Amino acid sequence: MKRRDFLTMAGVGACACAAAGAGVVTLDFLQPKVLFEPPTRFVAGTALEFPEGTVRFDREHRAYVIGASGGVYAMTAVCTHLGCITRFLSDENVIACPCHGSRFDLEGNVVHGPAPRPLPWIEIKPDGAGNLVVDTASLVPAGTIVRV
Ligand code: FES
Repeated sequence: MKRRDFLTMAGVGACACAAAGAGVVTLDFLQPKVLFEPPTRFVAGTALEFPEGTVRFDREHRAYVIGASGGVYAMTAVCTHLGCITRFLSDENVIACPCHGSRFDLEGNVVHGPAPRPLPWIEIKPDGAGNLVVDTASLVPAGTIVRV
């Protein structure tokens, strides 16, 4: 094989590899990059599952469903400081943020900063079949309790 033919074949091969690489990158670019989040509405359970003092954390939907005197309410679990997911500490009866130490009472009020605002309350209502349905996308005024 002549040197010239070898270099020509090597050049063609290099160009083919580069074209294949560009094709793979282009196909990857054309794929949709969508993050699928869970639906905002979920069934929390029946009202009987939330006697007074019950605090249930729904990890998937990042929400608390809390049994209160004569009713049930729901709050988001997303900290109002920088968006970390809070946790309920049953031994202290507070909701605490692990990121920067904010603490909230069971009505979402800030008892220790740096969180600037209370935890927002979210919609919870009966669905007609005996279940309570929470919608994390629908904010309601604090104090909105579903009477059961
Ligand atoms: S994100 Fe919760 S205290 Fe900073």
